[in-house]
Amino acid sequence: MKHLIAPSILAADFGNLQRDIEMINSSDADWFHVDVMDGVFVPNISFGFPIIEAVKRHATKPLDVHLMIVNPDQYIERFAQAGAAVITVHYEACDHLHRSLQAIHTAGCRAGVALNPHTPVELLKDILPDIDMVLIMSVNPGFGGQKFIGNTYNKILRLKTMAAELNPKLLIEVDGGVDIGNLVALIDAGAHVFVAGSSIFSAASPSKMISDLKNMPSGIFTI
Ligand code: DX5
Ligand code: ZN
Repeated sequence: MKHLIAPSILAADFGNLQRDIEMINSSDADWFHVDVMDGVFVPNISFGFPIIEAVKRHATKPLDVHLMIVNPDQYIERFAQAGAAVITVHYEACDHLHRSLQAIHTAGCRAGVALNPHTPVELLKDILPDIDMVLIMSVNPGFGGQKFIGNTYNKILRLKTMAAELNPKLLIEVDGGVDIGNLVALIDAGAHVFVAGSSIFSAASPSKMISDLKNMPSGIFTI
């Protein structure tokens, strides 16, 4: 597979959401990245079920739902019903991560685990075989438009080594401050899925930026 691009609708124009969804539908993007924030796990509130259901009604590509919320288990079934294809919970928000991942799989979705910038990838060692995707936060979660944290490369390299032994099919997603300037180095480090909000939606042509990100030179992954 080639690397995947997941535009974050957090950076879309909510007054023209259908227009922006249709732009993504007709672009080279692979997934819709949907950021849910509760004002408790992160110091910001984004949106909930009505918006996700509206996105799902118009979107022709999978919804990649990133839950920045405490106690996600109680809502997993509803996010699945709202149209999520991938549900990602934060390692830091789950006391019983194995149970959370089971609930996501039971709901028929792929299961992701997100790590804050300070959380070492090594903490996932015993749960890695149960995870479909690890989302490495390359900014502190809660806001779009922040500066990319350079230690992300190191985390991807270490996770890639772990995954080679424990879960060769694991997808590695990077979220925060991704742009045309760091994408190739992130691919080279071993990441597969790239979330991009402000670099896409603040571009003169968001559709062309998606196509530029998608068509950056990269190897073809075997997973
Ligand atoms: C931040 C969110 C990101 C955000 C990325 O908490 O998880 O998905 O939308 O936005 P940019 O690409 O602007 O950093
Ligand atoms: Zn996100």
